[in-house]
Order: sequence, then C-alpha cells, then structure tokens
Amino acid sequence: MIRIMQVSCERRLFFIYINYRKIISACNLKAIALTLQNIRGNMKILIINGPNLNLLGRREPEIYGTTSFEDYFASLKERFKEVELSYFQTNHEGEIIDKLHSCIGVCDAVVLNAGAYSHTSLAIADAIASIDLPIVEVHISNVFARETIRQHSMLSSVCKGVIVGFGLKSYDLAVSSLIDICKK
Ligand code: DQA
Repeated sequence: MIRIMQVSCERRLFFIYINYRKIISACNLKAIALTLQNIRGNMKILIINGPNLNLLGRREPEIYGTTSFEDYFASLKERFKEVELSYFQTNHEGEIIDKLHSCIGVCDAVVLNAGAYSHTSLAIADAIASIDLPIVEVHISNVFARETIRQHSMLSSVCKGVIVGFGLKSYDLAVSSLIDICKK
C-alpha cells in the first residue's frame, strides 16, 4: 500500500515538473528568439528592385522623383543602423526569383518592388509563396491612381503587406514594418 502511494506521488511530482518546464520554456521563447538573433548578428533585410528601377532619378522624374536609388539607399542605411540592409536590382524576372530563393536561411525579411513584373508575374508570386519569409510589396508611385493595368498586382495576395504611393519613403515604411514583424 505504502509502495503504491509512493509511486503515484512520484508520478505526480514528475508531471508537475514537466508542466513547469513547459510554462517556463513558453515564457522564454521570445527571449530565446532574441538571443538567437543576437548570436546570428543584426536582422537582415534585403531590398529587391525590379526592371527599370536602376534608372530612378532619371526615369520619369515627375512620377518617380529625382533621387537615385543609390543615394536614397545610403540615407536609408543611416536611418536603420540597427538592421543589416542590402540591396539588389535586376531587369530580369528569373533573377528576381533566384534572389528570392537565395534568401532562405539568410535573410529575415524582404522588401520587393518588382516594377512592371508586379502586374504580370505569376512566377514571382509563386516564388514569394514558396519561401517562408515576410515580404512587403512596395511601389513608389500610387499605382491605384494610374492606368488600369497597374491597379492589379499578382504579388499582393502572397505578400505580408503592400505599401504604395509614398515616393521613396515607401521603402522606409516597409523596412520599419518588417522590423516590427520580425521582432514579434
Ligand atoms: C512601380 C510601379 C509599376 O507600375 C511600374 O512598372 C514600375 C514602378 C512603382 O514603384 O511605382 O516600374 O513599381
């Protein structure tokens, strides 16, 4: 009899110990995530710009402004010193897809302005859906105030969010939103 009571008491203590450990580890998950981030270094956010965005500053300045992306990017890095920001531009659809794939396990988040491919590319939409990363779609101009063809994006439904029409500041807004998302 005494032996049976002893065994059930031990079992109960074991259960209490296991549940206690579960609660503690749930509370610590956020701290562990933050610690891992510290070990890995700063949060890494990649900006991908698609076709014709290499001509920012010269291309249709009445729509896209007069600042080159390189100048803007330098100031963006100054504003977000706590983040490791990198930038990639290409005029080729496949290279956007390759770059998205290369982010797996390397980047924490992506800002994507796929330019005209935003309105046409199912392949880029599939690439976004294939990688488990928060991606914010960005447009410098207010595409909803432009031609009908620009008012639909193939990418919006697979992105975490969309920022449109704030000029180059759209990228600032995307980066700060992604920092918040990644910290959660
Ligand atoms: C753009 C809008 C697109 O419609 C256009 O093709 C671009 C730039 C923008 O940032 O406003 O190349 O993505």
